[in-house]
Amino acid sequence: MAKPKLVSLSKIYPPKTLLERIRPPFAVIMGSPSDVVNLLHSSPHKEAVCYQMDLFQAERLQQMLQDANIPAQVRVEADLWDLGPNFASAVYLPARSGERELKTDILEQGFHILNASGQFLVWSAQPNDSLFPEAMKKIYKKVHIHQEQGTTFLWSQKMEDRPRRRHEVTFQCKINQGESFRFLSRPGTFSYGQFDAGSRALCEVMSLRPGQNVVDLGCGCGTNGIYASKITGPEGKITFVDSNLRALDLTKLNAEANGLTNFETIATSSVSGPDLIPQSFDIALANPPYFANHSIALLFIQRSFELLKRSGSFFMVTKQPNEMVELMTQVGYVVEGAETRGYTVLMHRGPAARDDMGATTEPDEEDQ
Ligand SMILES: C[S@@+](CC[C@H](N)C(=O)[O-])C[C@H]1O[C@@H](n2cnc3c(N)ncnc32)[C@H](O)[C@@H]1O
Repeated sequence: MAKPKLVSLSKIYPPKTLLERIRPPFAVIMGSPSDVVNLLHSSPHKEAVCYQMDLFQAERLQQMLQDANIPAQVRVEADLWDLGPNFASAVYLPARSGERELKTDILEQGFHILNASGQFLVWSAQPNDSLFPEAMKKIYKKVHIHQEQGTTFLWSQKMEDRPRRRHEVTFQCKINQGESFRFLSRPGTFSYGQFDAGSRALCEVMSLRPGQNVVDLGCGCGTNGIYASKITGPEGKITFVDSNLRALDLTKLNAEANGLTNFETIATSSVSGPDLIPQSFDIALANPPYFANHSIALLFIQRSFELLKRSGSFFMVTKQPNEMVELMTQVGYVVEGAETRGYTVLMHRGPAARDDMGATTEPDEEDQ
């Protein structure tokens, strides 16, 4: 059966029944910046607290709210329940194709931001949404469902308290036949519940030495930098960078659990900050997301070039080697590639990595 075409919540007027149920103080949970602005534009109450997990989305939302003159506040936290039990209503705008586990996690955490008889509202772009009715019934006992314009609006009321329940999965992996690592993962972060094959390819190919200073760009739950630290040792340092605050919380927990002593986590959406000093790193690692026209991959390529010492090495895993080689070459990298596990690990190797790895690909004319 053909999948129904999903509408964009940013392009339609929110259901009247939804707008009538909004009571201040109220929260808007997740949603793309344009979905949130569209909702608040029509809402009778505009002084919402808008929850986001990722700085990049939060900054875009902040700008759009300002441009639309909407007096809402943006809060970025690793966990939604850190907002406290302060809200009479909360509207969740789930991503159209978002992960199921994140949706159930947000429902669980959302319960704990409601005040005594607060209402939890969900506006989903799925017609006849099949996930939320059952999931909300489990938490709130009762759920009301309303279909409108190809979207589903659901609401429930908090009646009695319930304990906090966290969704998380620990996975274990061995890299290069070495020691075994355990990583904690939570919904909304990469990669949830399993060691990513691209990350494995990167770890298997990258070359490091004891004492090196490493930056892990877009670290997720920290797998690549944590593996790197086993080679760089206590004299080396790992700096983990991500825009997702939940990912950075996990990285910290995973780094400590895996025995790292010299590391730092940096929350930024632009790979910048006082501790990211130009030409101070020996190694930069990246397994970037490839959405948004490769703009994040380009950001990682440009910033890694600025952060690396002249003798430094950059390792980046991709499934789009041709486009990425072009971007890397444009900033000044001399690019080689190693293919493994259906991925290409592109690299610019400094002298140390060249000595350690030998030739990986056919040398180009200049090298002969
Ligand atoms: C494909 S995941 C890789 C995670 C991990 N390094 C791995 O290999 O499993 C990409 C990561 O980049 C992060 N990210 C996306 N945009 C970013 C930005 N503008 N600044 C910093 N990190 C970003 C995401 O939050 C995500 O954790």
